[in-house]
Amino acid sequence: MKGLISLTTAMFVVSVQASSIHLSPKGLDGRSVSDNRSPGTRARERLMNTLLEDYVKSVKPEPYDGSPLQVNMSLSLINLDSVDTKEMILETHSLVWMAWKDERLSWDPSDFHQVKMLHMPTDSIWIPDIDLFNNDGDAEKPMSDMIADVTSDGSVIYAPELHLKSLCETGREASEAARIARILGFREIVCKLKFGSWTYDATEIKLVTPTSQIDLSDFRRVSTDEFAVKHTSVEVDQETFKCCPNPYQIATFTIVLSNNPKYRYNTK
Ligand SMILES: *[C@@H]1O[C@H](CO)[C@@H](O)[C@H](O)[C@H]1NC(C)=O
Repeated sequence: MKGLISLTTAMFVVSVQASSIHLSPKGLDGRSVSDNRSPGTRARERLMNTLLEDYVKSVKPEPYDGSPLQVNMSLSLINLDSVDTKEMILETHSLVWMAWKDERLSWDPSDFHQVKMLHMPTDSIWIPDIDLFNNDGDAEKPMSDMIADVTSDGSVIYAPELHLKSLCETGREASEAARIARILGFREIVCKLKFGSWTYDATEIKLVTPTSQIDLSDFRRVSTDEFAVKHTSVEVDQETFKCCPNPYQIATFTIVLSNNPKYRYNTK
């Protein structure tokens, strides 16, 4: 009984100590739990708290002049997972790069131990609801942890790694070249990955594609030996839907695949 009382007293003393010195609660062994944070960790914690104080993540950042928010987009193709020539579905493994500016997330590095970049969880900040429009099946969840890189000027870079299923069509069947190619047993498939925001129209979000091609520098391998990437292109245009008066911006990443002449194609 006496032992229990002194243990309770000891815990009480410890908790009083902890609350009187605020930031550093002590473990029962008396060792400090959080004192040993480095200046860099402290600066990042303070920065994270400062940036997210009064931040309302459902509000889209709006440029000072009221113009649409510019969202830069590019696509990095990592792998062709499968080409379903019957259903005309291309499965790819891609990195979808998006970058925009959120002035609420800017800071002066000299106030924060020279921290110039912060990894922020995407569930704590505004992220554009950009998705694959011509997706086949359920929307895919990003594979990697949902983290965005924020730099001190308020630039946010978010690059989820996604498995995408998009619908394709046979390429320019009407063209003479395609006709001859078909006679010779070559085939071409055109797959378009169309991205856009579901809720923000062209007066709110402007999509910009800084590159005119899909980035293939990380392209690893082709699971489907039968097809090779022949050509890619990127463009942004606007589409109007029945629902809404304003048009929406759509970024289209086109992949032209052709069958590899190394492999004789066995038509059914
Ligand atoms: C978007 O791309 C433009 C170049 O087209 C560049 O000047 C701008 O800094 C980029 N924005 C972000 C937030 O990275």
